[in-house]
Amino acid sequence: MKKIIIAIDGYSSSGKSTMAKALARQIGYRYIDSGAMYRAVTLYAMRHNFILADSTVDTQNLLSRLDDIKIDFAVTPQGQHTLLNGEDVEREIRTIEVSNHVSPIAAIPQVRYALTAMQKAFGADKGIVMDGRDIGTAVFPDAELKIFVNAPAATRAQRRFKEMREAGNNTVTYEEVLENVETRDHIDRTREVSPLRKADDAIELDNSGMTIAEQDQWLLQQYKRVVGQ
Ligand code: DC
Repeated sequence: MKKIIIAIDGYSSSGKSTMAKALARQIGYRYIDSGAMYRAVTLYAMRHNFILADSTVDTQNLLSRLDDIKIDFAVTPQGQHTLLNGEDVEREIRTIEVSNHVSPIAAIPQVRYALTAMQKAFGADKGIVMDGRDIGTAVFPDAELKIFVNAPAATRAQRRFKEMREAGNNTVTYEEVLENVETRDHIDRTREVSPLRKADDAIELDNSGMTIAEQDQWLLQQYKRVVGQ
């Protein structure tokens, strides 16, 4: 069967990665979480003190080290793990500290160019599901299937809060998570390079009233339609 590229974009915590992962597993495609790549660069910047006390980024020093940052993914029975220069950083990149610093890093044009090049390489042989903010617009403008997922900020913050609590984070509050979601929405929408927007040919999905099983089913139908199954 012909292999395609599936681009799933949307706001933070819209559930896009849950559906992207489920589809990839079901149809035997590789799943790439492009947000994890921006998070890994952010963690690298934090570890090297390129994020200053006032939360601005020491862009010059970060850019001088960009070639040293290698990002890959390993699939284990526990799920997918993000590797930063070979180290498994999956847990660390999901902390609120990384979430709070990732948008300014993702707004740096040279960071976007470097990660976009890596993302295109992951999709060179097709057979890939990639989620993010600009996959259907900038990374794979020719993707055969493009989805844009949305849900109200409060719904998304509630989901993220629940996930963090379930992962053992007992200190974070719902208000902190909501503020983080709203701030990131704003920065993602208004940045100069590749702002978050629906590609003209993307199919929009508001999944607020859907169960996970329903959204998985919906996405599988979209895939089948495109490959003519
Ligand atoms: O999907 P996420 O919350 O893990 O993404 C983390 C951040 O990375 C988010 O604030 C926006 C940014 N991002 C981006 O700018 N472009 C992408 N393709 C994916 C994520």
